[in-house]
Amino acid sequence: MSKQPELKRSAKKKIFIIHGPNLNLLGSRDSQHYGTLTLDKVNRAIRKKARELNLETRIIQTNHEGRIIDLLQRRRKWADGFIINPAAFTHYSYAIRDAIEAIQTPVVEVHLSNIYEREDFRKISVTKEVCVAQFYGKRVDSYLEALEYFGLVQQ
Ligand code: DQA
Repeated sequence: MSKQPELKRSAKKKIFIIHGPNLNLLGSRDSQHYGTLTLDKVNRAIRKKARELNLETRIIQTNHEGRIIDLLQRRRKWADGFIINPAAFTHYSYAIRDAIEAIQTPVVEVHLSNIYEREDFRKISVTKEVCVAQFYGKRVDSYLEALEYFGLVQQ
């Protein structure tokens, strides 16, 4: 029998997830807005969903604006997409906004809480308009919906 051509496995889509400032304190932050899950448990749910969707993930939490910008720049070639919860930076960081705009890689913004039903300063997202989608108000499910966006919609 002649040699069969090797079937190419479709490459796993790679998603880089960035948790912004103070999200390392999940579990002890205001449960009314953020729920009771620790960041570790949130990450476990993210990894489980990613496996179901056949996505490869890297997850990082940082309290530093510059580190978020460095990650967006340095990982833009590795990643097929970013999921970012910029936390409080959402509301005022033009530097993160510009970084998202500058890279070609699609970025989805997520929030655990419903930022549109909280204090006025939280209703403004300066990063939203340069992101391809925004999921909010569903606690950990906001992240899972963002994964589905990359896993299902963006095949
Ligand atoms: C948050 C909402 C922000 O306003 C806040 O500063 C956070 C978390 C959220 O996930 O709901 O730290 O991004």
